[in-house]
Amino acid sequence: MSIRHFLQFNDLSRDELDYIFERALWIKAQFKDYQQYWPLTDRTLVMIFEKASTRTRLSFEAGMQQLGGSAIYLNTRDSQLGRGEPVEDAAQVISRMSDIVMIRTFEQEIIERFAANSRVPVINGLTNEYHPCQILADILTFIEHRGPIQGKTVAWIGDSNNVCNTWLQAAEVLDFNVHVSTPPGYEVEQERAGLYGHAHYEEFADPMEAARGADLVTTDVWTSMGFEAENEERMRDFADWQVDADMMKVAAKDALFMHCLPAHRGEEVSADVIDGPHSVVWDEAENRLHVQKALLEFLLLGRINKV
Ligand code: CP
Ligand code: NVA
Repeated sequence: MSIRHFLQFNDLSRDELDYIFERALWIKAQFKDYQQYWPLTDRTLVMIFEKASTRTRLSFEAGMQQLGGSAIYLNTRDSQLGRGEPVEDAAQVISRMSDIVMIRTFEQEIIERFAANSRVPVINGLTNEYHPCQILADILTFIEHRGPIQGKTVAWIGDSNNVCNTWLQAAEVLDFNVHVSTPPGYEVEQERAGLYGHAHYEEFADPMEAARGADLVTTDVWTSMGFEAENEERMRDFADWQVDADMMKVAAKDALFMHCLPAHRGEEVSADVIDGPHSVVWDEAENRLHVQKALLEFLLLGRINKV
């Protein structure tokens, strides 16, 4: 089998994504039933972190162990990666000692250079541009609560960041719509988001209009990792882009609220929304585990006919 990477959402086709969601639900059900499932015995995942993480590290490490394999954690502080070893050299070495690699880093270009020099599959655990594993979990969560996402409307309120870009790619692959509202100066950059066109998203100056009638309202921090120097300016620019109870009222009656976490209550989301009845953020976080197990299995073993 030729090596498959998951560097951005559209690296997988709609058919493959449908398979992964179905597979994730099966793996989740087995796990909840305390059934041992070890398809990745003796396989090793290397996780490289150049930025902080709670969910991504935990879900990949626990997931790999639950599938019978093992996971090794590397970060830039105490490996040669932080001392200027070329990413191409690191990829050559790391991929000779492991079966699959997950990387969280800065520019997308870094992970692409790593993948180009890797003998094993590489998974994007977040870059400045994309966060594809997050949107796998988000869509799995939507499917569990509301059924297929095809034809539905997702409202994105706030920064056109890595999570937003990935929602937009997902809309193209899976055929749903995104209503985006960002403050002026923070609009979607189509090329950076890796989009084919404008057919699956619409931009709204007023965040309330973006949320109107939406099946899912979602947001993220105003300042992503790596952009901390802009924090003060962003606090001012994003002040009117908070998802609050009034905004959820104009969304569809049964609208869901999601946030990739970590969240800042009182900034991008009010406490009564994230802790309220529309919110599915804990299911969303948990589903990182289940959907990534399906992804690891798919990238290492291909399709399993068991579903
Ligand atoms: N949502 C997410 O990726 O969380 P972490 O930064 O904790 O991994
Ligand atoms: N957009 C956020 C997501 C964190 C999981 C960041 O990049 O910091």
